[in-house]
Amino acid sequence: MDFAKVVRKRRMIRNYADETVDRATVERIVDLALRGPSAGFSQGQYIVVVTDEETRRDIAALADEERYAALGLPRWISGAPVHIVVCTSEADYHERYNEPDKLEGGSEIDWPVPYWHVDAGATMMLLLLAAVDEGLGAGFFGVRRLGGLKERLGIPDEVTPVGVVTIGHPRGEQPRGSAARGRKDRSHQVRWERW
Ligand SMILES: Cc1cc2nc3c(=O)[nH]c(=O)nc-3n(C[C@H](O)[C@H](O)[C@H](O)COP(=O)(O)O)c2cc1C
Repeated sequence: MDFAKVVRKRRMIRNYADETVDRATVERIVDLALRGPSAGFSQGQYIVVVTDEETRRDIAALADEERYAALGLPRWISGAPVHIVVCTSEADYHERYNEPDKLEGGSEIDWPVPYWHVDAGATMMLLLLAAVDEGLGAGFFGVRRLGGLKERLGIPDEVTPVGVVTIGHPRGEQPRGSAARGRKDRSHQVRWERW
C-alpha cells in the first residue's frame, strides 16, 4: 500500500473479529517494526508476542478491560488475536552511551529526554502501520499495573513494558475513543522557522 494511504488509514481499532492472524504475517509486522531507529543504535526495544488466549485474557484484566465493557464498548483487548507487548531497556542505553564513541568528556551524556521511551514509541508506530499495510487493524493501550504484566510474562527487572499493540481483523463499528474530540488545527501544532 502507498505510504501516505497507510498513515491516513490507520486508526486505533477497538473491535476485532474472532479470526486469527497467521504467524508469518505477525513475523513480517514484527520484522518491519524492528527496522525503526534507536539512539546510538542501542536497539533497546524488545517485543513479546502473545497469541495464547488465556494470557491475552490476563493482559486484558491487568489493563482493566472491564472499564471499556462498562462503557458499552467491545472487549477489544482480550478479543484481539495478537498482543504485542512493546518493551524498552533503559539499561541498554546507559551501556551503549558508556562506549568510547558516545562518552562526552569521559562521562555518559546528560540525557535531554529518555531516548529509550522515544525509541519504544517509534517501534509502536511501526507496528501499527505495518499491521495496516497487511490489511489488518491495530490498537494500543497502556497498562498501569506494570508489575503484574511483567510477572505474568516473565519480563526481566531491567526491561519496562511501555504498552501493548493489539492486532487483528477489524470488525463492525469502531469506537472512536478520544479521537471523537476531533483533530486540532494544523496551525496550532505546526510552526515554520520558529515558534
Ligand atoms: C501513548 C498512547 C496511549 C494510549 N492509550 C490508550 C488506551 O489505554 N486505551 C485506548 O483505547 N486508546 C489509547 N490510545 C489511543 C488514542 O486514544 C488514539 O490514538 C487517539 O484518540 C487518536 O485516535 P486514532 O489513533 O484512531 O487516530 C493511546 C495512544 C497513545 C499514543
